Amino acid sequence: MHVVNVFSFLLITSSLCDGRRARGNRADNDFGLKLKTHYQPKSMFRMYTHGKDLEDSCTIELFQAHTLQSCNFNSSHPLIIIIHGWSMDGMIESWVTRLAAALKSTQKEINILVSDWKTLAQQHYPIAAQNTRVVGQEIARLLTWLEDLIQFPVSKAHLIGYSLGAHIAGFAGSNLAASGRTLGRITGLDPAGPLFEGMSSTDRLSPDDARFVDAIHTFTQQHMGLSVGIKQPVAHYDFYPNGGSFQPGCHLHIQNLYAHLSQYGLMGFEQTVKCAHERAVHLFIDSLLNRDKQIMAYKCRDNTAFNKGVCLDCRKNRCNTLGYDIKKVRTSNSKRLYLKTRSLMPYKLYHFQFRIQLFTQFEKIDPSLTIKLTGTLEESKTLPITLVKELSGNKTYTFLITLDTDIGDLMLMHVAWEADPLWTSIWSKVKTIIPWGSKEDGPQITIGRIRVKSGETQQRTMFCAQTEDGVFIRPSEEKLFVRCDERREKPERVRSRG
Ligand SMILES: *[C@@H]1O[C@H](CO)[C@@H](O)[C@H](O)[C@H]1NC(C)=O
Ligand SMILES: *[C@@H]1O[C@H](CO)[C@@H](O)[C@H](O)[C@H]1NC(C)=O
Repeated sequence: MHVVNVFSFLLITSSLCDGRRARGNRADNDFGLKLKTHYQPKSMFRMYTHGKDLEDSCTIELFQAHTLQSCNFNSSHPLIIIIHGWSMDGMIESWVTRLAAALKSTQKEINILVSDWKTLAQQHYPIAAQNTRVVGQEIARLLTWLEDLIQFPVSKAHLIGYSLGAHIAGFAGSNLAASGRTLGRITGLDPAGPLFEGMSSTDRLSPDDARFVDAIHTFTQQHMGLSVGIKQPVAHYDFYPNGGSFQPGCHLHIQNLYAHLSQYGLMGFEQTVKCAHERAVHLFIDSLLNRDKQIMAYKCRDNTAFNKGVCLDCRKNRCNTLGYDIKKVRTSNSKRLYLKTRSLMPYKLYHFQFRIQLFTQFEKIDPSLTIKLTGTLEESKTLPITLVKELSGNKTYTFLITLDTDIGDLMLMHVAWEADPLWTSIWSKVKTIIPWGSKEDGPQITIGRIRVKSGETQQRTMFCAQTEDGVFIRPSEEKLFVRCDERREKPERVRSRG
């Protein structure tokens, strides 16, 4: 994780060079006629139409009504404003047009603007962080102007901000709120952490900044007290994919850090940091491009509890869809939602909670159990079961299993005990030295009922051993379990050999 240390170091050094807090006059809506005629914009609003080149796209200029016509701004369509983050090279990152194109592909009748604040973003981090207030204010001005001039309601605007851009969206919203207007929606894509974490809700993105606020946290791994993305909840719904600290598929980049650094210098380093940070953006793009693979996330206390599989509940808005099509339910408290993803797009995984009753007479064994699921559509791969604790006595174990395809309704399940060859050979030697009375005396596990709950369908399925001896499993054995209904849950044979 050297990369993050280097990153934190850069942040700290730049903080020392310029330790001013990112504070400003957040509710400054006081702009009169004089200002309108001599308005000097600090950022630009580029209208996205199509293609990759934003630099020569049409720009909407504040207080210049004719630019709305020349850019084909249609006031009967909703508005999305994309806001980029901190810039090291002064270029608009490629994800901006990818996101704009994805939005356009889903919804033709939409105005897409890109808030281009490159010159204010290509600064030492603390200065860029401070500039977020200025840019937020300018976006608020644009929206106020649109509402006054062409009756475009601010409630039809959705701001999507990445990193520092997420806080810009927040400041835009709080500026509007100060003049009694409520922004429609803000989506924060891995909102920036340094200089915002732990700040009061008026000094960062918060649920008060729009009618509905959602945030995706993807790089909150902490080093030296700092994390690139903000850890605390800042929205109505805060999503923490894979726990939010780091993302699958990003490790490789970290390993190549030194090669990157020597080859590309700081740019390569930036690419490296970006993998997990920018994952939030790609998850959002995924929600637009793969409409049939909407990702579901579940409210949970923390990631540890989520990994135990105990949080796959959808009652009372405890689950929601990640990305564009989120169900916009306003709640008084921020909800932390957890989910697992693949390392590549489409990122969707299917979540299952397993509850298996296991019984062993041996003290503390750590068997490597695997399961294989067969559904009405497909069969899964062989999946390892990781028990949080060693097995002992008679307990129910709960864990989370994820699948990358929809296998349909669950029908069958194979449970196997994959014996380590070395261990098996030791075991057979032990057996020849100490002759055992009967074969039941060898290590074996009694498997009681297996209950499975699908997060995505909320369906519960129960499995019972297919044959009478199916409830026992020994090293190198595989047993078949079939669907059974609740009434068969206490078959005689399960109890007979306690
Ligand atoms: C705005 O879009 C609507 C369709 O949604 C269309 O009928 C109308 O002509 C458009 N207005 C302008 C000014 O292009
Ligand atoms: C384990 O405990 C449950 C109840 O807690 C019981 O129904 C079951 O028979 C026990 N299994 C064994 C093998 O003792």
